[in-house]
Amino acid sequence: MGAPAVLAVNILAIESSCDETAAAVVEDGVRIRADVVRSQVADHRKFGGVVPEVASRRHLEAVNPLMAEALEGAGLSWGGIDAVAVTYGPGLVGALLVGVTAAKAAALALDRPLIGVNHLEGHVYANFLVRPDLPFPLLALVVSGGHTDLVLMTGHGDFALVGQTRDDAAGEAFDKVARLLDLGYPGGPAVEMAAAGVDPGAVGLPRAYLEPGSLDFSFSGLKTAVARLKEQGLDAGMIAAAFQEAVVDVLVDKTMLAANRFGVRAVLLAGGVAANGLLRQRLAARVDGAGLVFCCPPHRLCTDNAAMIGAAAYYRFLRGELAGLDLNAEPGLSLGG
Ligand code: KG4
Ligand code: ZN
Repeated sequence: MGAPAVLAVNILAIESSCDETAAAVVEDGVRIRADVVRSQVADHRKFGGVVPEVASRRHLEAVNPLMAEALEGAGLSWGGIDAVAVTYGPGLVGALLVGVTAAKAAALALDRPLIGVNHLEGHVYANFLVRPDLPFPLLALVVSGGHTDLVLMTGHGDFALVGQTRDDAAGEAFDKVARLLDLGYPGGPAVEMAAAGVDPGAVGLPRAYLEPGSLDFSFSGLKTAVARLKEQGLDAGMIAAAFQEAVVDVLVDKTMLAANRFGVRAVLLAGGVAANGLLRQRLAARVDGAGLVFCCPPHRLCTDNAAMIGAAAYYRFLRGELAGLDLNAEPGLSLGG
């Protein structure tokens, strides 16, 4: 008798934690068979930020058509799905509930396992879509609109939070500074564009390193300093370049401090702010220089998507970490905290 056939595991994943509704089909945690994202950026732009009630309504309109689109893109029928995964936190409660409810309904109707995924875990696992063989222990810098976390991973699903922001998240700082400088929404890409080709050293901005050796972050002072420069009438491009440089300096220095302290073999970059070109370049250079493996997902897998949720869900599936139909949205869910 030959060895039993190893069957592929196709996971339908749903993401609706903030202002992107997304669905994906991921095979065995690595092969993205379909990955569709419907962004609500245009709906929120006129308000200058995400309006939770509007977000929930848009998710509700989008979630069923997107699941159908993902299945079609994957060339699968509902019967070809082996498990249903969903982001259950952190995020906006009303937004999360839409995805969680849709996933529970699909899992129940299909009689397939349900897997709850932490959104931040998803961002980290976007890296495993690119490089499934990443060596442990590893350190992930997770930088998004709501988080600036240094996460130590000693194995799949084994997370320890070793540093975090004490006030604004890095993405939030980009968004607030963009608003202060009238650069538009969403703020991260707007600041990056305004800073392109501008000398970052023309204006000095503070770097908050906190107590010696601290792995925590603080960006609120920087925001205040930017407001002061704006009042002085300085050029928005010059301020944007100095701001971006200051944020990247601190993110890179503290990540390297943590990488050395914990003796990791790889450093990963994850979350929406990982789309920032300067951050990617600087961190890659420092990690390479230290002889460690560097990984950062391509742009579209850095910002919110469901493929990353499908990847994280696969490793939970292998560990037998399944959710019950009582899975609830957990807006304040943390990762290894
Ligand atoms: O992960 P994400 O898509 O959503 C959250 O989970 O928060 O991250 C969104 C954040 C926003 O604050 C956005 O301004 C920031 O990521 N972002 C960037 C860039 N692209 C997106 N920040 C800096 N530079 C960018 N190119
Ligand atoms: Zn995110």
